[in-house]
Amino acid sequence: MSLTNDCGCSWPWLIQLGVEPEDTILRTLYALQRESAKEQRPWFVTLSFAQSLDGKIDARPSAGAAPLRLSSARAQRLTHALRAMHHTVAVGWNTLLADNPLLTVRCGVPESHTPPGWTQPRPVVLLPHGALRAEQLAQSRLWQERRDQLILVPREVEWGSEVNAASMFVEGGRRVISSLLSATMNDHALGRRCDAVIITIAPCWVGNTLNSVPAFERKPAMLPMPRLGKLRCWLLEDELILLGVPATESGNATT
Ligand SMILES: NC(=O)c1ccc[n+]([C@@H]2O[C@H](COP(=O)([O-])OP(=O)(O)OC[C@H]3O[C@@H](n4cnc5c(N)ncnc54)[C@H](OP(=O)(O)O)[C@@H]3O)[C@@H](O)[C@H]2O)c1
Repeated sequence: MSLTNDCGCSWPWLIQLGVEPEDTILRTLYALQRESAKEQRPWFVTLSFAQSLDGKIDARPSAGAAPLRLSSARAQRLTHALRAMHHTVAVGWNTLLADNPLLTVRCGVPESHTPPGWTQPRPVVLLPHGALRAEQLAQSRLWQERRDQLILVPREVEWGSEVNAASMFVEGGRRVISSLLSATMNDHALGRRCDAVIITIAPCWVGNTLNSVPAFERKPAMLPMPRLGKLRCWLLEDELILLGVPATESGNATT
């Protein structure tokens, strides 16, 4: 078990798996979270997703088919350790319907790797415009198995005010990734910006007409070009892990 908390607060937690490069990746995120906690920023949002070489985040052959995982078991374990370093884990409504996720920390991570008193991050679902689709929600595993912890965030509210936690790990899908990146670069007032981005790049091309990320409109006024600063990268066997903070073209972090 490895827990370090040397900034005098109950969060962030450093999760260490005892294997490299995972532990360096986890420490790098921890350093960013720690900086944020020290500066008493209200909360810390990490955006994380897996993509193919052609920028696809889903490899299923058709709608309704079982998802084909882009990332390896090892990359998934890293993702679960990253989840464990946050209070909440969020997905968009379509991901709830498509993947029916539980959003728990599994893959052997909770056991000896989490601090005493640690609890599973609460699941967050970002709801679509309009009336709550209660029937679809009721069929989800999140509703059936984690209803008491589930946080439902209406479309137009600031995430921070609804979620009321120090940190959130946002996993997608495509539209949520795109709007979070866009809001981070354009519209800080929305309270939907991210502080760190972690991308797992699988060494394959998905092809076909499936959509790529990000998919936001880049208006001429939206200069400089969005990019990642403080960039680090690691090879996890044959997958590339990128970790950076949203930055301007000059390389300055936007936070
Ligand atoms: N590779 C990965 O790491 C990964 C991770 C997660 C999901 N996925 C894949 O992503 C796909 C689903 O992506 P998707 O683009 O269809 O849907 P999505 O991004 O999961 O969800 C979009 C839905 O969430 C609602 N929403 C609420 N707040 C939003 C916000 N701030 N920004 C954007 N949408 C918001 C939208 O509402 P409105 O309709 O009102 O706009 C829309 O109904 C699935 O195939 C899933 O397997 C991949």
